Amino acid sequence: MSVNTIIAPNDLRAQIKQWRLQNKKIALVPTMGALHQGHISLVEAAQQAADYVVVSIFVNPLQFGPKEDFASYPRMLAADLEKLELAKADILFAPIAADMYPEGFQTFVHNNALSEVLEGQSRPGHFNGMLTIVLKLLNLVQPDVAFFGKKDYQQLKLIQIMVRDLCLPIEIVGQPTIREASGLAMSSRNLRLTPEELAKAPQIYKALSAVATAHEAGEKDYPKLISLFKAELSKVDGFRLDTIDIRTQDRMGAFEGLVDKPAVASVAAHLGSVRLIDNLEFSGS
Ligand code: PAF
Repeated sequence: MSVNTIIAPNDLRAQIKQWRLQNKKIALVPTMGALHQGHISLVEAAQQAADYVVVSIFVNPLQFGPKEDFASYPRMLAADLEKLELAKADILFAPIAADMYPEGFQTFVHNNALSEVLEGQSRPGHFNGMLTIVLKLLNLVQPDVAFFGKKDYQQLKLIQIMVRDLCLPIEIVGQPTIREASGLAMSSRNLRLTPEELAKAPQIYKALSAVATAHEAGEKDYPKLISLFKAELSKVDGFRLDTIDIRTQDRMGAFEGLVDKPAVASVAAHLGSVRLIDNLEFSGS
């Protein structure tokens, strides 16, 4: 069976209703398109978990700031559809902005704590836009389970917290980051790196790995680990570091002095015109 592309929210609801009447288990993989192996790994995990898999593609204007890359964000629906055919997804839901944000739209989801730090500090309003569209997609699809990549670690935590706080009966699963052989985390934005930048970009993962290795070897001091990251990143020129932090894995809480619980080192850095993010989990002991 080929992928059924649905544009109108009401058509999606009609299909979901049919599956629900048949007691089928439904999984959702929300994306902004320009699909790569990271997304496909989410589709594969979704297939293992459910009878039907819905993949949404929507470049959500609400989660881009006025100076961000909404206009230049890669859009390639035909190529995406081919990938979803190969991956045997059931539905591609590709709504238009006017249906998702009709005239007079004025209700938003806001997390009062975690959305204000790290990515939230660098990208004001980003997480409001992200949580709002994710809640809308969860409401439209009403999946049993939804899959997100751990590459957007803070996003994943915010969605898990929203689902818990707002009592949504949906399991949120975080899947490991898929990397190129070089270590570079796969991302749709990598398409906008020049060949020279592509050669430099893996340094982010190298610097994150150096932090994890030092921690494993006994360095638990938070400021030293942060300095180590900066020193490793600066071995390759061209990066403009935006944020680097080490936080707890459970809810991304701050460490005071010693990194002594399961941790995630999380970074955002500009390379040329592209803002790259990545993170690495490591044990606290
Ligand atoms: O991670 C993304 O691609 C987006 O933030 C998401 C979750 C699809 C919401 O627009």
